[in-house]
Amino acid sequence: MSEQVLLLGQTLGFAANPFDLPLDEAVIHHRRGGVLVGGGKILAVGDRDELKQQHPQTKTVDYGEKLITAGFVDAHVHYPQTGIIASWGKRLIDWLNSYTFPEEMRFHDADYAADIAKLYFNLTRSHGVTTMVSYCTIHPESVDAFFNEAQMRNQRVVAGKTCMDRNAPGGLRDTAQSAYDDSKALIGKWHGLDRLSYAITPRFSPTSTPEQLRALGDLWTEHPECLMQTHLSEQTDEIDWVLGLYPEARDYLDTYEMFGLLGEKGLYGHAIHLQDRERARLKEVGAGLIHCPTSNTFIGSGLFDMGGLMAEGQRVGLATDTGGGSSFSMLRTMAAAYEVAHLRHTSLHAAQLIWLATAGSAAALHMENKIGNLTPGLEADLVVLDLASTPDIAQRTARADDLWEALFPTIMMGDDRAIADVWINGSNQI
Ligand code: GUN
Ligand code: ZN
Repeated sequence: MSEQVLLLGQTLGFAANPFDLPLDEAVIHHRRGGVLVGGGKILAVGDRDELKQQHPQTKTVDYGEKLITAGFVDAHVHYPQTGIIASWGKRLIDWLNSYTFPEEMRFHDADYAADIAKLYFNLTRSHGVTTMVSYCTIHPESVDAFFNEAQMRNQRVVAGKTCMDRNAPGGLRDTAQSAYDDSKALIGKWHGLDRLSYAITPRFSPTSTPEQLRALGDLWTEHPECLMQTHLSEQTDEIDWVLGLYPEARDYLDTYEMFGLLGEKGLYGHAIHLQDRERARLKEVGAGLIHCPTSNTFIGSGLFDMGGLMAEGQRVGLATDTGGGSSFSMLRTMAAAYEVAHLRHTSLHAAQLIWLATAGSAAALHMENKIGNLTPGLEADLVVLDLASTPDIAQRTARADDLWEALFPTIMMGDDRAIADVWINGSNQI
C-alpha cells in the first residue's frame, strides 16, 4: 500500500453531466481545495484546510493556484500512427493508402512496435492523457507492445488488434478466421489483467468482408465484457463506398448491425454524417459516439453535431484520433471541439469541454466507476493544470473573475506547458 499524499490546489470535478444540469448542480469546484490520494485511489476531495486538519501527518504537495482535475481520457487513437501524424494533403482513403498503411506494415517488427509504444506513452503523458483507447495494427505483436508499455506504467488503457481482410495491402490483411482466433487469444492474454482491457477492433466496414464482420460479431457475443471499436460515417466518399460494398445495408451503421456489431459497449469513431435511423438506433442501444474534432477538420471530414447529439441524449466521448488528428493534446482537442460546435451554432462551455475530456469519455467506455472524475473511490489518475502557463495565456487569465474565465484561455491556447503534473494510479513518478 503506497503512502498517502494530500494534493493542494483548486479542484474541479463533476456531480453530474453539465450538458444535462445547470453548472451549479453539475460542477464541484473548490477554490482552495485538496485531493487525498492513497493506495492508487482518490480517498477524499474537499476543502484544503479541513483535509489538512483531518490528516495532519500526511505529506502534502502544494500546487498553489493550479487546477487539479481528472486525467484526460482519449477515447479513440491509433498509437501506430504516432510517426505519421500531420502528414500533408490527403483525404481519408488516400491518406490511409499513402501514409497509414505503409507505416502500419512496420509493426510486424516487435522491436519497432515497442519503440513506438514507448514514444507514444511518453508523448501522451506530457499532455496529461492518462487513459486511451487505441487501435493497434493487424499484428498481435503491436497489441503486446502497447499493453506491455501500459502495464509497466500502471495505466488504465483499452486496445485491440485491428482486423482487415480486404481493401488493404497484402502485408496488412488477416482473414475472418485468423482475426477471430488472434483476437480471442489476445483477450485471453490481456483483458482484465491489471488495468488493461481489450476492445474487439474491426477497422471499418470497407476493410472487412461480411464473413469477418460476422466472425467478430460472434466473438463479441462470446465476450460481452469487452468493448468493440470501429469507425462510422467519417467522410461522404467513404459512406458511398460502404453502401456499394454492402448493397443490402440500410445505411452505414447497418453494416455493423447486421453482423452483431452494434451494442451499448460499441465505440463508433467520428459519426459525423448520420442518417435519422442511425441516430435513433445509436441512442436506443446507448452506444458511444466518439468525437475526433482535430481529425475531422484536418482530413476534411465534416462537422460533428455536438449540440444536436447531446440534446437527444447520445453518449459522447472525445478523442484526438492520433494520427488522423493533428495533435496529441486533449486541450487542443477541446479547443477544436469548441470551434467545430461553434460552426454549428453551439457554444460549448469550458465545464462541458473538460467533462467531455474526462467523465464523458470515461462514461463512453463504461468506466465512470473507475476513472474520469475527482470522486472518492475512483482510481487516482489526475492532471494538474497551470492556468498561466505562457505569457499569452497569463495576461488573459490575470483578468479572469471566475474559474471559467481563468480556465477557458488554457483550453483554447494551452499545450503541454500547461500540464504541471500528472498522477497515474496514485503516483506522479514514471
Ligand atoms: N477509418 C478507417 N481507418 C481509419 C484511420 O486509421 N483513421 C481515421 N481517421 N479514419 C479511419
Ligand atoms: Zn480512427
